[in-house]
Amino acid sequence: MTASPIPPAPFEEHKVDRFGFGQNWLDYQTSIDEARLLAARTDIERWLGTTSLAGLRVLDIGSGSGLHSYCMHAMGARELVSFDYDGHSVQATKGFHHKAGAPASWTVTQGSVLDAAFLASLGTFDLVYSWGVLHHTGQMWQAITNAAGSVAPGGTFFISIYAKGPEYPEHLALKQQYHRASLSGKRRMEFDWITERYALRAKNGESPEAWWSEGKERGMDAYCDLVDWLGGLPYEVATLPELVQVLRALGIETRRSRECPGDGGCHIVVGSRPAVHSDRGVPAGPSLQPAAAARRIALRRSRR
Ligand SMILES: C[S@@+](CC[C@H](N)C(=O)[O-])C[C@H]1O[C@@H](n2cnc3c(N)ncnc32)[C@H](O)[C@@H]1O
Repeated sequence: MTASPIPPAPFEEHKVDRFGFGQNWLDYQTSIDEARLLAARTDIERWLGTTSLAGLRVLDIGSGSGLHSYCMHAMGARELVSFDYDGHSVQATKGFHHKAGAPASWTVTQGSVLDAAFLASLGTFDLVYSWGVLHHTGQMWQAITNAAGSVAPGGTFFISIYAKGPEYPEHLALKQQYHRASLSGKRRMEFDWITERYALRAKNGESPEAWWSEGKERGMDAYCDLVDWLGGLPYEVATLPELVQVLRALGIETRRSRECPGDGGCHIVVGSRPAVHSDRGVPAGPSLQPAAAARRIALRRSRR
């Protein structure tokens, strides 16, 4: 007689070992200046291929500091919803909401991407942005599935996910060690990490001090990124082909991507859900998809 298999324990989100991302974001907020704002906005514009989100409903899942939500509001989003699991991240995002003059078109709230009922209550969006979030939920593939479900027909999905590689077990163990460490133990691990980076840069003939300027392309801060990296639990990873395949199964076609060459960095994917065409062949609603926009303009012109 074979033993009956023991069913896996149900996933309990609040019981997972989790880094306090939000406190790190509150600390980081104090260092944000115009240069960082510009860098963050430029990054979004470059990936989306547009400077305007006018007319679009936008969702920022895991808004963290709120910096990127702020940029998407500044890009003219018709309606913006930002949410995060961590109360301190929500507080940080509310700081940016306040900086923007507390517009009624921008809602900041607490919630989890794993909460399907919560997501359903928000409806669907023309742009769903979730940078560096879905791999920190404890159920990455479920989070990707739920987030993709928020993309409206003709909408865009913009995500980044940690790259899978041979160093995953080592990196996971490092994060677990950081999680267990005392405050002074954490500072020691950060110091050791920076010392290692300095040595590596010196070996490559680069200025060790220039480490502090790394990661600025999204308006980030090297030290804040380091704390986020060492602390970042839960931690899951994927290969780019895995992501592209799963997204396709979820109805999202990858339009642009950047594969991270090694462990520790993120793959970036911008995909879109095909538009639903009305019986007159006109895609419904505004869209970020250049082909759909071009078709709509051509159609309007041909009717004149
Ligand atoms: C590395 S930060 C990224 C923040 C921001 N998107 C950015 O690009 O700077 C990850 C964020 O995801 C949030 N997060 C983790 N699990 C989440 C969940 N289940 N639902 C929503 N947000 C979550 C964390 O609280 C944290 O603020």
